[in-house]
Amino acid sequence: MNSPVTSTSGSTTSRSQQPATAAAIGHGTPGGDSRTAAARAIHVSKIYGSGDTQVRALDDISVDFARGEFTAIMGPSGSGKSTLMHCLAGLDNASAGSVTIGDTELVGLSDKNMTKLRRDRIGFVFQSFNLVPTLTAIENITLPMDIAGRNPNRQWLDSVIDTLGLRDRLSHRPSELSGGQQQRVACARALASQPEIIFGDEPTGNLDSRSSGEVMGILRNSVTQLHQTVVIVTHDPRAASYADRVVFLADGRIVDEMRAPTAASVLDRMKNLEAV
Ligand SMILES: Nc1ncnc2c1ncn2[C@@H]1O[C@H](COP(=O)(O)OP(=O)(O)O)[C@@H](O)[C@H]1O
Ligand SMILES: [Mg+2]
Repeated sequence: MNSPVTSTSGSTTSRSQQPATAAAIGHGTPGGDSRTAAARAIHVSKIYGSGDTQVRALDDISVDFARGEFTAIMGPSGSGKSTLMHCLAGLDNASAGSVTIGDTELVGLSDKNMTKLRRDRIGFVFQSFNLVPTLTAIENITLPMDIAGRNPNRQWLDSVIDTLGLRDRLSHRPSELSGGQQQRVACARALASQPEIIFGDEPTGNLDSRSSGEVMGILRNSVTQLHQTVVIVTHDPRAASYADRVVFLADGRIVDEMRAPTAASVLDRMKNLEAV
């Protein structure tokens, strides 16, 4: 059976072999090959409010997210992590600069086309799970495709459900599931349509460490085995250690990045950032 993600016991030692295309592109280098970046920000700024209350949440950010890579965005509270993710995912508009998903420029896209792009090309996993309380697990998993009027690939859907251990929970509503199970449903929903990129804002923020490890393992394996592209925001060094790359934000700017992160190396870097 074609299993999408065969193990949920994620490990920081079994890192993915990067596909040649992903390995070939530089990161953080606007002007690189736009055909291979799954998402890209070029000179993006985001300003909230005006006058005395003005906040520059993002200050001239340029960053690429290569296809088939798992990136964690980290930084102190208020550094702009959620804002960056929302601008990349078409949930908010940048004040200046360019944002692309694949070859599609998001700046200037109509609301209708933005909604369609989010629905058809992006998967989301949020801290608060964002499941519809009146729908069962399986209805939640297929909801985005139902709305889009697309038939799920049955075989694919089955393998996602089995691998995420949700087979015997499909008729349960979210209130009948644990937090870890709800987030696995949210992961299944994101993976089911095989989107170009999955964004997660603190996807393990409400989970205990065991469930957190499970969810990160699922995302890790979706990248390693399926070459899914995943970008998450997290403040947890252990969660970040599942990624291929960590991008560090402070005061709305990218201040550093790290490849092959470990929990210890990430923790170390975060201490320095928070001390500044
Ligand atoms: N809707 C908003 N209106 C005004 N200020 C905002 C809004 N959203 C975020 N901010 C401000 O922008 C900055 C970055 O916020 P955010 O991206 O949520 O940070 P993080 O996710 O890293 O904690 C913070 O100073 C925050 O207060
Ligand atoms: Mg945030």
